[in-house]
Amino acid sequence: MDAVDVIRAKRDGGELTPEQIDWVVGAYTRGEVAEEQMSALAMAVLLRGMTAAEVGRWTEAMLASGERLDFTGLGRPTVDKHSTGGVGDKITLPLTPTVAACGAAVPQLSGRGLGHTGGTLDKMESIPGWRASLSTGEMRTVLTDTGGVICAAGPGLAPADRKLYALRDVTGTVESIPMIAASIMSKKIAEGTGALVLDVKVGSGAFMKDLDSARELARTMVGIGTGHGVRTVALLTDMAAPLGRTVGNALEVAEAVEVLSGGGPADVVELTVALAREMLAAAGLTPGRGGVKDPAEALADGSALASWRVLVRAQGGDPDAPLPEAAETRTVSAPVSGTLTRLDAYRVGLAAWRLGAGRARKEDAVSFGAGVVLHAKPGEPVGAGEPLFTLHADEAARFDRAEAVLEGAFDIGRETDFAAVPLVIDRVA
Ligand code: URA
Repeated sequence: MDAVDVIRAKRDGGELTPEQIDWVVGAYTRGEVAEEQMSALAMAVLLRGMTAAEVGRWTEAMLASGERLDFTGLGRPTVDKHSTGGVGDKITLPLTPTVAACGAAVPQLSGRGLGHTGGTLDKMESIPGWRASLSTGEMRTVLTDTGGVICAAGPGLAPADRKLYALRDVTGTVESIPMIAASIMSKKIAEGTGALVLDVKVGSGAFMKDLDSARELARTMVGIGTGHGVRTVALLTDMAAPLGRTVGNALEVAEAVEVLSGGGPADVVELTVALAREMLAAAGLTPGRGGVKDPAEALADGSALASWRVLVRAQGGDPDAPLPEAAETRTVSAPVSGTLTRLDAYRVGLAAWRLGAGRARKEDAVSFGAGVVLHAKPGEPVGAGEPLFTLHADEAARFDRAEAVLEGAFDIGRETDFAAVPLVIDRVA
């Protein structure tokens, strides 16, 4: 086969054959299709799209490029959650031990942050001693012993995606719905989970800025998962404003522990409970039957917190150790009194990134203590001169650029100017 023929076929709007897809993905992974040829094909896919059959086969080819984990025989059903990424999205932290406390096993292979969105592994690594890299054997042991494991995906899992994602990142081709769907689902299916709940974010802080694209992405991923025997459900959730009141690694861990202790911000609790209920249902567990708890009960009675402590310890972390704190803080005050009518997730994420919470290149280190604390959420009253944000950074020199991006991040108006939007917008199954 010839790469140029495959590129031409997609460029002209044709449907690639299963043989063409298998060949091009495999040959690219082996280094036999050049980077510039795959760039051209990725751009053709972005512009022309893919049919459901093509996306399914593309996912299959990426899966075939690496190993597949097998978590059958654990004695409890496995279920995972994947979020398409947002600002202040620390949900994996309270969710994994909550679902484990309710009786399912949660193999949560997670990533690091890139750009304005944070990564679960960076957050967890702010816990002193905690280790993200586990062998497959260690993963199974932790999962069996604790009911949950949060760790990095090994290099053997969907290597075709690893290579292709890096290429898409530098060729303006990340935003292709079929490519995003195949990328996410190849990793999730390879991870060997029996069921999967997708949290597809919509809004300024998300990949998908509008509801129609988010719905299309959700439908495509649910179709791929179901087609591969993984019970898959997606919730479309709002990411116009950040989740919770903290954005930044250690700040978000502290907030997650508040939620696990029965408190925490209402939106983080609501989403944790909504996703946990979906995960239990997808795993075939019914609260109230066979000793299965409802997730809200597990948060309230301390069992989710106990499960978190076991889970953290199993990976070398000390749940009682003080979390890292940034050396410097600066408060940004509200210029006028009124109701906070808008708080832009993207800009808050960018501010946290400029403070040192995120990285520009994969090899950069993050500051664990850096980030933004939000003193008001949309719909809440603010008073002129009262704190709106507290910025945390290791170097005071970072504050001006973070403050500059926050200037256009919010509106303060009348109470009647504020229209609340539901956090969970839709469900796709
Ligand atoms: N996350 C992924 O894993 N892949 C994408 O393509 C986009 C987001």
